[in-house]
Amino acid sequence: MSIIGVDGGMKTVRAEGRIVNLEKKIKQHSDIDGCIGIAHTRWATHGMPSENNSHPHRDCSGKISIVHNGIIENHEDLRSVLISTGHGFDSDTDSEVIAHMIENFIDQGYSFVESFHKTLSHLRGTYGLVAVFKGENKIIGARMGSPLVVGVGVNEYLIASDITAIVKHTKDVIYLDDGEVVLIDGGDIAIETIDRLKIKKSVTEISWDYLGAQKNGQPHFMLKEILEQPETVQNSIRGRIDFHKGTAVLGGLKDVECKLKEIDRIVIVGCGSAYYAGLIGEYLIEQIAGIPVEVELASEFRYRKPILSQRTAVLAISQSGETADTLEAIREAKRKNVLTLGIVNTVGSTIARETDAGVYNHAGPEVGVASTKAFVSQVVVLCLLALYVGRENGNFSKKEGLELIKSLTELPKNIKGLLKSKDYIKDVAKQFSDINNCFFLGRKFMAPIAYEGSLKLKEVSYIHAEGYTTGEMKHGPIALIDEGFPAIVLCPKDSVYTKTLSNIEELNARKCPMICVTTSGNTDLDKFTNNVIYIPNISEYLLPVVATIPLQLFAYYVSCEKGLNPDMPRNLAKSVTVE
Ligand code: AGP
Repeated sequence: MSIIGVDGGMKTVRAEGRIVNLEKKIKQHSDIDGCIGIAHTRWATHGMPSENNSHPHRDCSGKISIVHNGIIENHEDLRSVLISTGHGFDSDTDSEVIAHMIENFIDQGYSFVESFHKTLSHLRGTYGLVAVFKGENKIIGARMGSPLVVGVGVNEYLIASDITAIVKHTKDVIYLDDGEVVLIDGGDIAIETIDRLKIKKSVTEISWDYLGAQKNGQPHFMLKEILEQPETVQNSIRGRIDFHKGTAVLGGLKDVECKLKEIDRIVIVGCGSAYYAGLIGEYLIEQIAGIPVEVELASEFRYRKPILSQRTAVLAISQSGETADTLEAIREAKRKNVLTLGIVNTVGSTIARETDAGVYNHAGPEVGVASTKAFVSQVVVLCLLALYVGRENGNFSKKEGLELIKSLTELPKNIKGLLKSKDYIKDVAKQFSDINNCFFLGRKFMAPIAYEGSLKLKEVSYIHAEGYTTGEMKHGPIALIDEGFPAIVLCPKDSVYTKTLSNIEELNARKCPMICVTTSGNTDLDKFTNNVIYIPNISEYLLPVVATIPLQLFAYYVSCEKGLNPDMPRNLAKSVTVE
């Protein structure tokens, strides 16, 4: 962090690793006293995690200090020009060039603010950037491709890359858009474009409360967020059911109702868990609404030169609403004048603002890096979307709609009952916490849950886990199976149960240690394993929701058993705002 002292000086303290390491170092400096400052927790893109590569980065004079989220793609060219003019660099990062660029312009006689703007015009890539200058009571920030939001407090302003850093201090925020610059000078705020055009931005009130982002007495956010999934589902469906017509009411799609009627294909884009939710959405929308759906990894979508007609809609799924890959996929769709929709959890986020229309999850803040309640909410909202479209185009009858609505409204109660088995799942997790590899297997609606379950285990326990479709095992992967290579098999009594059962026989014949997840009352699996986890016997459309929860708990408890911190897994960030 860098603080502009009341005496006009500037103090910078940096530390590698967790924030607690920085706090310890700051305590050693009793002379830090000021009310203007910047700080940053780094997700390494260029340069190893080290104190030298930590932010803030400074110029040669030590008067300019900057923090930066994003990637400066032309940093090597800029660095070589700056070195040729006498600048010395401390770090291996791309970000440091920004501080020296500002210094370069100040040395040419420009003011700090003018130098900041001139620097922006030379940067190529993405940035959520904030800078301070020794002796000036100013903070200046700019956004391009990496989120930046301004908190408007009582006699204070806060600039952050995510509203969860602000919500404790104020609920009034200004969302910056790409190409916008905010200058806080003493008690005044001014917002301009990069080209120095002054603009007016509205102040939005965040609907989240700070307490909602706390742990509610649980040891970790991840467990708190798993346990609050009954309420999450309640909040995702609240006010969105028409019990008379047997359909969903999605106010966020109102403005595009007519366009939606013309749509004959949907392409879903997302990353990680959001992508896996999209895979479930494919089954749901195709079966309930009868519309062809493709699901694309957002990071691949724009490089594939996607074929999109005017009757295609591109649907982005994103908890943070700031994932760079997903945002760029939406921008690619907009370049092709295609209808863009969003299923987003973070209100006011970039993807929510840049899509033509969408549906908020209303899942509340998800702080744990591993997505749990947001994923469940995404599946529920996709089910509502499929119901809405299927009832609009007549592919789904009112009777079918009312049956699905009954399952949806009973879901919170079913999840509550399922969560009662968390201690049993904890015991199973203990038995498997020392494994090195694991398959997660499922068919049809359970295949994406197998992928998602394997991602959860990878993320928070660092165990190599692979999600596979059960039917694919015989085409190669079963070669890995022996008594040392366990598998978690999702085998509810669904439409493909008998197929999955024969796959379990194949695994059993090769002495594969198994955990089986099946619907309550099914005793077929007792002969294969002692580790059978039961889920409620509900509509196949919603089985993915109840099947994923035991896998969330399993991953969480394995992580804890290994003495890891499931909330802050190594190498990961909650919102990946770099491509
Ligand atoms: C999931 O547990 C991960 N945290 C990660 O895969 C995440 O789902 C992905 O980065 C997408 O994030 P988003 O939903 O905020 O776009």
